[in-house]
Amino acid sequence: MSDFTSGFWPIYISVLTLLSIIGTWVFLKKQTTRKLAPGEKPELMKHTWDGDLQDLNNPLPRWWLGLFYGTMVFALVYLVLWPGLGNYAGVLGWTSLGEYEAEVKAAEAKFQPVYAGFMQQDIATVAADPNARAIGKNLFLTYCSQCHGSNAEGSKGFPNLTDGDWLYGGEPETIVATITNGRNGMMPPMGAALGEEGTKAVANYVLSLSGRKHDVALVGAGQAKFAENCAACHMPDGTGMHALGAANLTDKVWLYGGSEAAIIETISKGRSGAMPPMTQTLGTTSNQEAKLHLLAAYVYGLSKKQ
Ligand code: HEC
Ligand code: HEC
Repeated sequence: MSDFTSGFWPIYISVLTLLSIIGTWVFLKKQTTRKLAPGEKPELMKHTWDGDLQDLNNPLPRWWLGLFYGTMVFALVYLVLWPGLGNYAGVLGWTSLGEYEAEVKAAEAKFQPVYAGFMQQDIATVAADPNARAIGKNLFLTYCSQCHGSNAEGSKGFPNLTDGDWLYGGEPETIVATITNGRNGMMPPMGAALGEEGTKAVANYVLSLSGRKHDVALVGAGQAKFAENCAACHMPDGTGMHALGAANLTDKVWLYGGSEAAIIETISKGRSGAMPPMTQTLGTTSNQEAKLHLLAAYVYGLSKKQ
């Protein structure tokens, strides 16, 4: 593929490049033909800079001239061998893409045997292996840390993966499914349906579920509204449902915050956290599956330490 959008530019660039090299050559040649005749003394030139700086008209030393011509020869040889002149690909046929692909191939060949060993083991076994965990951690830092944090503890809207509390479940195959297909939590906005008072009541009922400070007078009304509007996803007891990613509301773990204000915001505006499917990102190569395996094992291991 050519990077140029018009046929003019490659020619323009090639001509300009070659002319400057030839031009420099001619200029240098023209300026350095003078030699001192036998017995001739170099003359002092008639100008002075910076108060007292004067120069002689000595010919340039040969080694120095040689360096100059050397750079020009180097440039010409380079432009024959490698791409540099417009669209011309160079005798060696080098491309940055080719080099990248060769490096990826070499890295794959290097990791293949290491990965193959881990692929034989189930995720729980891999999670217990310190070498596998070290590789898993590096993969996590590369592919996941921008959202889940380098220590996997997450932040608002991005779940903590170390606490053993799961939206979707922490079984090895569930973690693999999460990473492979991504997840999209769908908590619908319910402010309009509940009204301001209803929202406040149900929020106080939610607060009571995890023993947080709440307005006792509102709990009764809130509970009724919860049974009607929320229990289908969060279960009648509020412990949540992994199949939907509906959060457990009875524990101390909050994805979006556990203050009354944060809960009211969640209920009235809804929430829809999105975890992208990662398989494409992990590369389209044979190592993709192994990376997935190691990442799942790493995440599985993080929560098991607790
Ligand atoms: C673009 C941001 C982003 C990236 C990158 C990302 N995640 Fe996620 N991840 C999320 C969000 C947001 C959620 C919560 C989804 C929800 O709320 O439904 C999530 C959820 C998860 C869950 C489910 C947690 C639970 O409680 O069930 C796991 C496991 C997970 N991510 C692992 C990973 C791994 C491993 C990687 C790297 C391969 C990764 N994530 C990369 C944003 C991201
Ligand atoms: C259609 C299913 C569904 C319904 C109905 C539903 N929720 Fe949710 N809720 C979810 C999902 C899924 C999430 C997680 C959203 C995410 O991961 O981004 C969630 C998240 C929440 C959270 C955030 C938890 C945290 O850790 O920050 C609260 C609070 C909550 N819901 C309360 C309620 C209340 C109260 C109602 C009823 C008024 C309700 N939900 C109705 C599915 C539902």
